[in-house]
Amino acid sequence: MDSAEVLKEIAEQVTVCEKCNLHFSRKKAVPGEGPSSVELMFIGEGPGFYENELGRPFVGQAGKFLDELLARAGVSREKVFITNVVKCRPPGNHDPEPEELSACRGYLERQIEALNPRVIVTLGRFSMAHFLPYAKISSAHGKATWVNGRLVVAMYHPAAALHQPSLQETVLEDFSHLPEFIKLAQKTQAGHVISASAAVDPAESTTQPAPAQPHTEQHSLLDILPDQAVEPPAPPADDPDDSGPVQLSLF
Ligand code: URA
Ligand code: SF4
Repeated sequence: MDSAEVLKEIAEQVTVCEKCNLHFSRKKAVPGEGPSSVELMFIGEGPGFYENELGRPFVGQAGKFLDELLARAGVSREKVFITNVVKCRPPGNHDPEPEELSACRGYLERQIEALNPRVIVTLGRFSMAHFLPYAKISSAHGKATWVNGRLVVAMYHPAAALHQPSLQETVLEDFSHLPEFIKLAQKTQAGHVISASAAVDPAESTTQPAPAQPHTEQHSLLDILPDQAVEPPAPPADDPDDSGPVQLSLF
């Protein structure tokens, strides 16, 4: 099966899934949407009112704000995959319960495997916790961490910024670094590995030859502690690629 077929199969399973209590109250499950192979994937918390009506992710208020954040970062929504950690609406938008998260986890893991994104952006703490169980959003937001060979960038949930205007500047600032993280991940897979410390200061780093199969590089979950999170990389002074705006297929 190619990745489009795998994603279609997952979506079909999600649509009729009864693995947790959320299926009782959902109108439409929301498997997620986007191309079948992406560089960038966004993972939110769970469908809200409008998502439950339409069966599509991030189409309500938070979705409008996400659209604006993507536009400002120069990323087109059509080129990214967007989904959630739970695929059915928690009634009253309650926080997803541990049983709901664990029942739904397998769908997300299979989606990630099929999509094979270089960069995963987590929106909110439940999505972040899927990858970084010990991280605190207040310190991890805007930073990236290598998890299983992918760069995981933690962001505040756009809805949190809508409810707390004081967070809006922070969210805008964090999203403005997204192109740098995408570029870092592309470089890493394009032929050399930049270590986390190199990401903090690329000018002082040494680059190493890439492993023959970067995708198979595994970090154990124990490796993924918050203190490994890295700041957005500053472009190295001598990197000819950095003379102009970042040119990526996402833009
Ligand atoms: N909030 C989310 O976390 N996901 C959606 O799809 C919509 C709002
Ligand atoms: Fe199934 Fe996930 Fe929906 Fe629960 S939230 S019923 S596990 S698809």
